[in-house]
Formats: sequence, structure tokens, C-alpha cells
Amino acid sequence: MDINREYRISPSLMCMDFLEIKKQLDIFVEEKIDYLHIDIMDGHYVPNFTLGVDFCNTVYSYSNIPLDIHLMIDNPENFIDDFSLFKNSIVSIHPDVYHHPVALLQKIRDRGIKSGIAVDPYLTVEQIYYLLPYVDQITIMTVNPGYAGQRLIEGMIEKIKKLVLIIDESGYRPDIEVDGNVSWENLPSMLEAGGNVFVAGTSSIFKRGTDLREGIRRFRKILDDFKGGATEV
Ligand code: DX5
Ligand code: ZN
Repeated sequence: MDINREYRISPSLMCMDFLEIKKQLDIFVEEKIDYLHIDIMDGHYVPNFTLGVDFCNTVYSYSNIPLDIHLMIDNPENFIDDFSLFKNSIVSIHPDVYHHPVALLQKIRDRGIKSGIAVDPYLTVEQIYYLLPYVDQITIMTVNPGYAGQRLIEGMIEKIKKLVLIIDESGYRPDIEVDGNVSWENLPSMLEAGGNVFVAGTSSIFKRGTDLREGIRRFRKILDDFKGGATEV
């Protein structure tokens, strides 16, 4: 365990209450949230539409919180410039949608922002091995991309452990993000497996009836306790 790793919460804004956006963004700022996870869906790569560049602009310019942009779209190469406007942010692509993901990841970094890949449940960690030098973050999809509120897919926790093994031998240090059904029950095993950035959606802080600030503090305590336990080892 690399005890110097940062553990981060990345709230999934597709799950937020859209009638209370400003109030929720104020809470994120007050609670010093590191990233805002923004799922961009085009109705092609996934059978759903969600948020767009204007939404990113509004949220970023109001809160100044870096964006963790998750492109679940075909032809991501056409939109990198649009999403490169947000400093200190990260743009993640699904490498299986593009013929030359190395070139696209290099282009994202050339725009001065961080690059990431989101690994669909069917892909193995070995298949993304040669992308390691070009990514700052690897997102393990623990549900099928496209919708909030789904259940953890069998075998995805094991997949996180396998990813840690190939990263350890590679010498690269990308963050490992876990995206999908990061619930209070699943979070401990996702932490143990090696995740360090967690997409918080309807399974935790945006769960119906949960107070957002309390949910964030509960989530952060689990991360802090885990990190604290790591230093005792
Ligand atoms: C799934 C999305 C996730 C999802 C996470 O395609 O990428 O961000 O919203 O939230 P829950 O906790 O509902 O799985
Ligand atoms: Zn996502």
C-alpha cells in the first residue's frame, strides 16, 4: 500500500438534485471536495444522454472545483478541445471507442490537462497495459456505463486488485478511480482492493433521504480511517 496516496471523493453530478445545484455546489466547496465527476453521455456509446460542455462551464466557473470528466461518447477526439478549458481537470475516455487511444491521450495531455481511461467491465487490465504511460487516472467501471443506480458487477473488485499488480510492476502511478455502486457496503472492499478515487452517486451521498453534507463527512471518515490504518502497518 502506498501510504502517501491521496484518497478522493468525486461526486457524480448526474445524480445531484438539479433543482438545488447552487446549494449543493456550495456544500462541495465548503467540504473541500477535490473533484466533480461529470458523466457525458451521447446516446450512442451508451443508451443515455446526460450533461454537456455548458453544464461543465457553469459548474466549474461557479465552484472552481476541478472536473473529473467521464466521456461515455463515440468520437471523443472531436470534443477534447471543448473539455480542455477546465484547468486542473481530467478528461477520461473509453479507449475501446477510438482506433488510436495513445494518440488521443497524448492530445489530452498536450492541452495541459490530465488524461484518463475508463475501463468497461468486459475489458481486462492486460488490454490497457500499454496505455499506462499516458494516463494520470484509470477508472474501473464497476457497473455497466450509462446509468446511475446499478448493482456492482461480479469480479470487478478482483479486477481492481489485478490492476494494482500490473501498475506496481510498471513503475507508473496513475490514480485508480472506482465508478459505479460505490455504496457504504462496497466501499471498504473497493478500498482494500486498491482504489483511491471514488465516484459518489446514488449509492452513497446522493442516496434518497441522505443529507449531502453528512454523506460527504461519512464518506470522508471511511477514507481517512482506511488511510490512517495504512500508516499503522
Ligand atoms: C454510471 C456512472 C456513475 C454512477 C455512479 O455510468 O458513471 O457515475 O452515476 O453512481 P451510482 O452510485 O448510482 O452507481
Ligand atoms: Zn462516470
